[in-house]
Amino acid sequence: MHSIKAIRGSFFDITHTVQHPDALEQAARFIEDGLIIIDGGKIRSLQTWEEGRNQLPPSIPLSNFPDKIIVPGFIDCHVHYPQTEMIGAWGSQLLEWLNQYTFPTESQYHCADHAAAMSDFFLDQLLRNGTTSALVFGTVHAASVETLFAAAFQRNMRLIAGKVMMDQHAPPALLETPAQSEHVTRRLIERWHNKGRLGYALTPRFAPTSSPQLLSVVGELKREYPDVWLQTHLSENPQEISWVQELYPEREGYLDVYHHYGLTGHKSVFAHCLHLEDKEWQCLAATRSAIAFCPTSNLFLGSGLFNLQKSWNAGVAVGIGSDVGAGTTFNALETLSEAYKVAQLQHYRLSVYEAFYHATLGAAQALALEGVIGNFAAGKEADMVILDPAATPLQRLRQQNGKDIHERLFALMILGDDRNIYQTRIQGEIAWQLGQEERPAP
Ligand code: GUN
Ligand code: ZN
Repeated sequence: MHSIKAIRGSFFDITHTVQHPDALEQAARFIEDGLIIIDGGKIRSLQTWEEGRNQLPPSIPLSNFPDKIIVPGFIDCHVHYPQTEMIGAWGSQLLEWLNQYTFPTESQYHCADHAAAMSDFFLDQLLRNGTTSALVFGTVHAASVETLFAAAFQRNMRLIAGKVMMDQHAPPALLETPAQSEHVTRRLIERWHNKGRLGYALTPRFAPTSSPQLLSVVGELKREYPDVWLQTHLSENPQEISWVQELYPEREGYLDVYHHYGLTGHKSVFAHCLHLEDKEWQCLAATRSAIAFCPTSNLFLGSGLFNLQKSWNAGVAVGIGSDVGAGTTFNALETLSEAYKVAQLQHYRLSVYEAFYHATLGAAQALALEGVIGNFAAGKEADMVILDPAATPLQRLRQQNGKDIHERLFALMILGDDRNIYQTRIQGEIAWQLGQEERPAP
């Protein structure tokens, strides 16, 4: 493991974070014939083949991927692994969907065997879709994250996850007291945070399932463990927003509920943010909080359209999220394709550079991990996806008619899915190969 290795192919990444989407074309790097050297699971260098070939000692194994495009591993900033088995549930919007499908499904995760089987299945799904890092919700049960962390540790993935915290407005089997929630969460942080590449995220589900006492507990834990992440939902659905107003009339709005308890901040990631007031955008920016944009979920549940322009104007970092099981795919290419359409409906021109940014370096920034993952800068962890841009006859035809990398990548994003994920590598090691035998569904 982790010896020196070299990969030749076409490389695409975004070299630095930006404040404005117009700067992304400049920040984008495409090396048509490139050579990457990986040493100890980290990137030592990325050069053109011509520059690098002479410095390549003959003893180093070289993998060659002609006709492929190699990009940094995709980062999923919001996903619920215990909803994998209920993806594509028909007919309802958020609150009804939670009661009808989500809570019954999540109730099964008290069983560690079920959680373990689903953890393996879920991580396989991430890898077969080119996703190498994710910020993940468990269920209220400690077993759900114990098994997920163990499975991610085994795969050496950079994964952040947390046990859901909730003490009201859900079926009794999914509720806990604030004291229990604190005790179990504390134990999980001590056990898993910073173990290998793993990180812990405090995970209050959302304001309606949280009493003021529970949110106080979350705030105390966040102060006690300032290095852990926080993930929750914010301003997804109009009925949800009205409900929060009824439950917390003394607060100035939905985000103010979280902000009041000290839950905003640099490592806080709020999913959705579809119906924010101006002052809420300002609060997210002032606290350096980040957003997970989940286009397939927002369309599937009829929740609304995320406004990318406003996120840039406010200066809030945005990463994409699959939000499975409300989201309808684990695949970043499909998710970005839907993001493009969400933008189109608002007359916002989402460039392919910006789209890939939100799935790689921009997503890393949203998770405060831009120094570690997200592009091929020297010293970063060598998580990457080898994309086949022409996996079908139609894609091949379209690629042949693409005049430059912009057009080819855009067509790949719009037409792409899991058939385009040729190989996924974790710290340089092969973690998924198209055509490999797959674990059967549990
Ligand atoms: N809000 C609270 N819980 C959930 C969830 O599981 N999925 C989505 N999309 N929104 C939520
Ligand atoms: Zn969610």
